[in-house]
Amino acid sequence: MEGIKVNQIGVSFKGTGSFVPDQILTNQKISQRVDTSDEWIKSRTGISERRISSLEDDVTEMGYRAALAAIEMTDWDVKTVDLIVLATSTPNDLFGSAPSIQAKLGASNAVAFDLTAACSGFLFALITASQFLKGGSFKRAIVIGADQLSSFVDWNDRRSCILFGDGAGALAIEATSEFDNFIGFDMQTDGERGSFLNLPSKNIKDSIIDNIDFLSGGFSPIQMNGQEVYKFAVREVPIILDKLFKKTNYSSGEVDWLLLHQANQRILDSVGDRLKIPREKILSNLEKYGNTSAATIPLMMDEAIKNNRIKQNDIIAMSGFGAGLSWGAALIKWG
Ligand code: UT7
Repeated sequence: MEGIKVNQIGVSFKGTGSFVPDQILTNQKISQRVDTSDEWIKSRTGISERRISSLEDDVTEMGYRAALAAIEMTDWDVKTVDLIVLATSTPNDLFGSAPSIQAKLGASNAVAFDLTAACSGFLFALITASQFLKGGSFKRAIVIGADQLSSFVDWNDRRSCILFGDGAGALAIEATSEFDNFIGFDMQTDGERGSFLNLPSKNIKDSIIDNIDFLSGGFSPIQMNGQEVYKFAVREVPIILDKLFKKTNYSSGEVDWLLLHQANQRILDSVGDRLKIPREKILSNLEKYGNTSAATIPLMMDEAIKNNRIKQNDIIAMSGFGAGLSWGAALIKWG
């Protein structure tokens, strides 16, 4: 019996871009502030330095620069961009920073909105944008991951301040009826374990008039139980990737690149070992940038594309994980 012919829409990956601020904070410099050392930070995390935003390069500016670079890699007129999704936990405007990026780009025909899922944010945003493309609603999308965690780090807490840095990355993706390079995805959250990593509101009680209280705005610095987050990542990331391989009929042996959220080199190595993916296939640049939250995956991707490590049709297994707790995986073919 002949079935109904459905026009399948797939996703094609067209461009990448990234931006990091100029200010470099080395491990040695951090040790002028808290009791730590280059040796401790390097051996426990793999990080040597990170970038710190100044007044001029906030999330909007970094996201804009990354998005512009991604568009420049394509042959698109910016007016043909339909959708801009900005993954960030640190917008310049809590009402959303994506429309400001849209305005700076001159992408006047796009709809732009923010999405917050901490370090899983970029992956969740990429999955979201891809669904709009596959569903036929939009044709061209820019997915941005940008964060400025330096504004929310407790710079006196040596257990967390050594990890984070600022930056942005972006991907340009397009709907196509010829093939589908977005092979599959999975995503999960577990709010029960949310207290392991937070950037909580201050919740300071004030009153408007007698007997009518309100909670004044503002946020407390990042609070993190490093050991629990570490255990969560090395357990859940291999499981979700393994599940995705089974679902898509791929094996870890077919993967050209493992592209994980850049949190800690020990996490990257441990996940690679569990999936039997050799070290030379694990992309890593956290030595230079530390953990830039939603930016790590597109920042790493842009570097690997531009220096010709990732090539046309390479299979990339990605995973983002972090606060929420949240985690996800995507399997794509570049191009
Ligand atoms: O996007 C997700 C974001 N979060 C993460 O990825 C966090 C994942 N967790 C980690 O990366 C690791 O847990 C850390 C790098 C944060 C910490 O490494 P660890 O090997 O788990 O260290 P620890 O917390 O078990 O601490 C070991 C020792 C402690 O001293 P004592 O109690 O054994 O005497 C700490 O006080 O190291 C001490 N310590 C430090 N020493 C020098 C903790 N931080 C520092 C530091 N410098 N910066």
